[in-house]
Amino acid sequence: MMERKKLVAFIMTMVVAMAMITGCGASSSSKKGEYEGELIMATNATFPPYEFVENGEYEGIDVEIAGKIAEELNLELVIEDVEFGSIIAGVESGKYDMGMAGMTVTDERKESVNFSETYAVAVQSVIVPAGSDIKSIDDISADTKIGVQQDTTGDIYATEDYGDEAIVRYKAGPDAVQALASGKVDCVIIDKEPAKAYVAANDGLELLDSAYAEEEYAICVAKGNDELLEKINTALTKLKSDGTIDEIVSKYISAED
Ligand code: ARG
Repeated sequence: MMERKKLVAFIMTMVVAMAMITGCGASSSSKKGEYEGELIMATNATFPPYEFVENGEYEGIDVEIAGKIAEELNLELVIEDVEFGSIIAGVESGKYDMGMAGMTVTDERKESVNFSETYAVAVQSVIVPAGSDIKSIDDISADTKIGVQQDTTGDIYATEDYGDEAIVRYKAGPDAVQALASGKVDCVIIDKEPAKAYVAANDGLELLDSAYAEEEYAICVAKGNDELLEKINTALTKLKSDGTIDEIVSKYISAED
């Protein structure tokens, strides 16, 4: 009887150990067992330089800032890579502690979640094939086929401005850019820093000079989770004032552009 119990315990231990070794998908660096608990961050890691996967690891500005916040809170950062459009609902329901995904603060989103202090300014920009007839924002119309990442502000604003018919929605920015490269859409409206990364990774695409919209990024948490929001804000204030955030940003974005 005893032996059998031991065997069961052994198997259980192995199962847990295997799960820890295999993990799921990319992992963030962590020192297991040293923290008071977890900070579960939902993101959509298709968005360089804010969040992306490289060599099986999550990297980017948001990932590093989140790591520092978790450190300040004495929590282990756990990253969940999900569709951008499901982040807010997952935060609302408590599935994730926070959403951090180059997420723009909007009044509509504020009805569902609370936002932290902002930690970055951003602009929506337009990617076109080199030599396109679209030379400026004014050349975009309801007849333009506009590629966007579904549920992003690029999607929301362009739908408002040009109508649903003009919009072609993709799950991730790189899919929209692929569609642009193969001529399925005429332009892609997306945040400028990821746009620069996508253009750099694809021949024959360029960025329009003019910005389509200006916005700010922040972390979202469930309404009512004021304790976490306050802790995140305190950490952000510290990381801003001691230069940590600038240092992280400058690793990924060069000052001249
Ligand atoms: N800033 C835009 C928004 O909030 C796009 C964010 C997309 N983020 C991502 N990780 N894919 O809608």
